[in-house]
Amino acid sequence: MFTTLRPHQSTQSNLIPDDLFTAINQLKKELNAVILAHYYQEPDIQDIADFLGDSLGLSQQAASTNADVIVFAGVHFMAETAKILNPDKLVLLPDLEAGCSLADSCPPDAFAQFKAQYPDCIVVSYINCSAAIKAMSDVICTSSNAVKIVEQLPKDRPIIFAPDRNLGRYVIEQTGRELILWQGSCIVHETFSEKKMVQLKIEHPEAEIIAHPECEPPVLRHANYIGSTTALLKYCQQSSSNKFIVATEPGIIHQMEKAAPTKQFIPAPAMNNCACNECPHMRLNTLEKLYLAMKFKQPEINMDESIRVAALRPIQKMLEMSC
Ligand code: 13P
Ligand code: SF4
Repeated sequence: MFTTLRPHQSTQSNLIPDDLFTAINQLKKELNAVILAHYYQEPDIQDIADFLGDSLGLSQQAASTNADVIVFAGVHFMAETAKILNPDKLVLLPDLEAGCSLADSCPPDAFAQFKAQYPDCIVVSYINCSAAIKAMSDVICTSSNAVKIVEQLPKDRPIIFAPDRNLGRYVIEQTGRELILWQGSCIVHETFSEKKMVQLKIEHPEAEIIAHPECEPPVLRHANYIGSTTALLKYCQQSSSNKFIVATEPGIIHQMEKAAPTKQFIPAPAMNNCACNECPHMRLNTLEKLYLAMKFKQPEINMDESIRVAALRPIQKMLEMSC
């Protein structure tokens, strides 16, 4: 899917030091690197990160860092956003195959045709999309600022919202604006079972259900609180409840347990008896791959300069509109 070389794929396991934490911290100093990680990363990666956040927080950190090297422990569109903001820095992604089903659900050619049907529209794209889609957009949003951004748009202009139809529906509900939705979705957030969640709530009546807006409407209907990963983390710290059913990727529970050690967090169940509520893309990154990426300074994120420049404008617009 992506073109950058992956020289360490054939690397022998004896290149991995016993104490990875020390080795990574040493490389961080040598490279003047910063490690940015999303909450869906495995706990060890979260623990070694310099900054941990949701997509908006990570973009803001990427926009303001003084580091020479950004090691992005997340998925491709996140590292790509960091590169768009920092063309002169080296941006590393531990596993270049760490993509995103939502971003993949919006191919640039099909989106260009879709957009051409609505020439007067303002295009708002969720950050979970490729640089090529960002380049066709007027403003980017994340799950934490989508409502705020749409509320600031002129009332007399129609709006296309892509690629996540679930976040789009949530924004429609919150703002009362009509949005023309691209029909994309996330394989992780559409996997939660409403039926099993209701059963779980009957077993734990005192638990609050907290959900990410990428979940399907039948799941969101039962939620006591809906928000981005950072918002969910803050909510469970501030709430007087001691038990939560968490309808998002369960990687975030590591931070929830650290932030509120006396509270209980139950992952919302998937439809099948599988671990498919774990994001298969996010989980491709490991501490070993992160170390190797820093040691060999690969895999590196690069893109066509004309696409980068076109994609930068709507990202900057988002950062301005989020203040
Ligand atoms: P946030 O980081 O905005 O909470 O979104 C979650 C997600 O699915 C990232 O891919
Ligand atoms: Fe993409 Fe869903 Fe994984 Fe987020 S959780 S990176 S939206 S596939």
